[in-house]
Order: sequence, then C-alpha cells, then structure tokens
Amino acid sequence: MNAESIVKANCISCHGDTLDGRGAANKNLQKVGAKLSKDQIANQINNGGNGMPGFKGKLKPEEVTAVADWLAAKK
Ligand code: HEC
Repeated sequence: MNAESIVKANCISCHGDTLDGRGAANKNLQKVGAKLSKDQIANQINNGGNGMPGFKGKLKPEEVTAVADWLAAKK
C-alpha cells in the first residue's frame, strides 16, 4: 500500500500535485505534520469538513492510516 499513490489518486485535485494547496494556505499539506497529529489527519481524511469530502467508505481504514502516517511525517 503506497500512501503517495493513494494521495495522487484522491487528493491532489484539490491539494495540488506538490501539496502546495494550489495557493490556499488551509489546503497546503507540505508541512501538515508540524500542525496536525497523525490522528487529527486521519480524522480529517475520514470526515472531511469545510469543503473537503470525507473519505470514510471510499478509502479502506488501512489506506487512511497509511496516508495519515505519510502526511504526519511532513514537518
Ligand atoms: C474536493 C477537494 C478536496 C479533496 C479531494 C481533498 N481535500 Fe483535503 N482539504 C480540502 C479543503 C478545502 C481543506 C481545508 C478545510 C478547512 O479549512 O478546514 C482541506 C484540508 C485538509 C487537511 C487539513 C489541513 C490543515 O492544515 O488543517 C488535510 C490533512 C487534508 N485536507 C488531507 C487530504 C487528503 C489526505 C486527501 C485525499 C485522501 C484530501 N485532503 C482530499 C479539500 C479537499
């Protein structure tokens, strides 16, 4: 399970292919691990909010965990 390929398939349309948020600070994920914990990131992926769709039911729990791990390491 490759977190990066899950992100490429599901997230970059909004977050940008370099995760720069396409100019929106609240969508920049380049250093999201410095701001949010792994659990907070997983929660955001599952439930979305403020314009982001929730991915619960779309991604498997282990895919959410893999992506949350990968993003939490970005500091
Ligand atoms: C339809 C557009 C859209 C898609 C697709 C999307 N997001 Fe988001 N995402 C957003 C928006 C808009 C926000 C800002 C929400 C806010 O301000 O509270 C956000 C916020 C986030 C945050 C919190 C960032 C912060 O600094 O608080 C994380 C983490 C995140 N997204 C991860 C992901 C991941 C991982 C995926 C793919 C599985 C994804 N997003 C797919 C639109 C999207």
